Amino acid sequence: MSQVKLSELLQQDCGTYAVGAFNVHTTEFIQGVVNAAQETGQPVILMIAEGVLRYGRIEILGAAALGAARMSKVPVAVMVDHGKEIPLLKKALQAGMDVMYDGSALPFQENVENTRYMVELAHSLGRCVEGEIGALGLSEDGEEEREQKLTTVEEAVQFYRETGVDVLAVSVGNVHGFYRGEAKIDLERAAQIAEALNPLPVVMHGGSDIPEETVRAAVRAGIRKYNIATDLKQAYADKMRQLAAQEPQLIQPWELFPPLAKAVQEVTERKIRLLAEPAKQFHF
Ligand code: 13P
Repeated sequence: MSQVKLSELLQQDCGTYAVGAFNVHTTEFIQGVVNAAQETGQPVILMIAEGVLRYGRIEILGAAALGAARMSKVPVAVMVDHGKEIPLLKKALQAGMDVMYDGSALPFQENVENTRYMVELAHSLGRCVEGEIGALGLSEDGEEEREQKLTTVEEAVQFYRETGVDVLAVSVGNVHGFYRGEAKIDLERAAQIAEALNPLPVVMHGGSDIPEETVRAAVRAGIRKYNIATDLKQAYADKMRQLAAQEPQLIQPWELFPPLAKAVQEVTERKIRLLAEPAKQFHF
């Protein structure tokens, strides 16, 4: 099966189903997520945030994700998440990754122009682009407060028409990181946008820390790519602290790291199954 282009993965006739897109930070995250995809028999998207690529490098961490995708028994897409630096995104496209260009903090027209440029570049290299319109309330790592701006149907449609983007992320009450109180997702808005853009795949970022019933409802509303980072980071960090406290004598990497990959795998499997539940299965 191996690596599949993001747009092709999301354009399958998937009925009521969302593909899980998971942020990876080290090779243990990559192995955990791909093992979960293979264990559940479902496709998956590996995302590496631009900030993570600055230390992990396209040639090292990006290559590891592409290698894992190519070896996988189920379809796996590999992409840069929240890219803003055009030279870095160009390099990622040349290496064989798809990209998200995030111009959501820019004025509408500037976001349109930059996204259109990235789409033309990506298509000329046989790759594709996720764009974003509207703004989430917290930064990608969930640490910095930002002004939230919900996406309207009209601007989503106009943005798609003017950019030709392959996949579109929207702001419907979702935030990155942990929610302050219960997540309030505007499901009606999500459904209206998904219907107006159909068959363009619509993305929901900030998928951690959301009650399962709301996740199912978001998928039924038409969300096709569902992003998760924080829930995996939490599982990884918890396991790391547990190992350090309970087995302080361990120094062998092959004993220290597999439990971290396993912790990531367990959470990922639960999420993949939850996202596939409304449809029961995905046909590819
Ligand atoms: P969370 O960290 O809230 O899961 O968000 C992930 C995300 O949207 C990455 O783009």
